[in-house]
Amino acid sequence: MAHPPRIAIYGIGQYGMMIARLAADRGWPIVAAFNRAGPKVGHDLGRVIGLGRDLGVVIQDSESGDYAGLDADIGVVTHRDLLSANMPAYRRLMGAGLNVACHGVQSYLPQSNDPELAAEIEALAQCNGVTFTGCGIWDMSRIWAGILTAGPCTEIRSIHIASLTDPEGQCNSIEQIRQYCISLPVETFHERGIARNAAALAKKTIPEMVLRALGYTVLESTATIEPVVYDVPVKTKFVPEGWFEPGLVMGVRFRCETTTAEGVTGTGLIDQRMFLPGDVEHMFWEVDGTPRNRTRVERLDSAHATAGNLFNRIPDIIAARPGIVPVYEMGPLKTTAVRWPRIGR
Ligand SMILES: NC(=O)c1ccc[n+]([C@@H]2O[C@H](COP(=O)([O-])OP(=O)(O)OC[C@H]3O[C@@H](n4cnc5c(N)ncnc54)[C@H](OP(=O)(O)O)[C@@H]3O)[C@@H](O)[C@H]2O)c1
Repeated sequence: MAHPPRIAIYGIGQYGMMIARLAADRGWPIVAAFNRAGPKVGHDLGRVIGLGRDLGVVIQDSESGDYAGLDADIGVVTHRDLLSANMPAYRRLMGAGLNVACHGVQSYLPQSNDPELAAEIEALAQCNGVTFTGCGIWDMSRIWAGILTAGPCTEIRSIHIASLTDPEGQCNSIEQIRQYCISLPVETFHERGIARNAAALAKKTIPEMVLRALGYTVLESTATIEPVVYDVPVKTKFVPEGWFEPGLVMGVRFRCETTTAEGVTGTGLIDQRMFLPGDVEHMFWEVDGTPRNRTRVERLDSAHATAGNLFNRIPDIIAARPGIVPVYEMGPLKTTAVRWPRIGR
């Protein structure tokens, strides 16, 4: 594209702010910002995201905002994980002719997470001639790492991902880590039905997306979720005493499996748990085939990594065909730092 991407941001929280700061850094025009009603609405985006100056973009109430006059290439949706919660944003932004980059976990593969809403998103994208893509940290570290690990194989029997994520790395409050009951009693995990949490179950699509990208015909994807409990205290930045007591939920463990018509299976053992001394956030892909191949990705700056994955996908999304286009169809992620270097804020 000849000009830098012009963006609108929907959901000015931790990641909406990071995307806005990255755009301001690179000179990508931010044409509009929307948030639900509250203290951010009516204020200049530059002040809210901590630039210390106006950007000339007043944050609008997402319910009553002006979508008709939006002159942007893409809307970045950074508020919720469930497609059902994000649908008003999709309808508004795609209805205004914008491509959509969504950070919600169900958006990576809508058709597997919520087929009914996926059909509506596909129809919206087709009738407005725009692209809808779910993106974020899974792009390079889970999806493309898996595709590339299988790349040299001339025969594949199975693929497997084992990973460890620090829940504090991408969360900015104790409320966020408590979405899966981390720091709460195990009974609360069961009472709240975390094992049936639709956003958490989206992890089932990790091996599925890699298998789809490799050309396999997916039959079924499943995931189970169990609590992780330690018998030692664990360091945390979220409580004044600096550690959580033993015996509480300290994380969640997902076991995922995808089966295919060709008989190749994809499995995942995905831990999202408070770190013990020596832990490093990583994704480890293993392909059993000919040849056998392994790749380990270490994510040392998790929050920046998810914002960077989304930000750097924006040009690909704008250039893609209309419809739902998953990141695995777009080629490996490339940095935008060379084409659009920092101009400062
Ligand atoms: N794709 C990935 O790999 C990945 C990685 C990490 C996180 N995520 C997901 O990214 C999303 C955003 O995370 P975050 O940490 O930025 O969350 P956050 O800090 O809570 O920010 C959410 C923002 O959206 C606003 N909002 C909430 N509901 C809204 C609605 N119905 N309409 C309009 N605005 C609304 C909130 O407004 P208030 O100011 O009123 O609260 C807040 O400004 C979450 O769903 C998270 O799970 C995805």
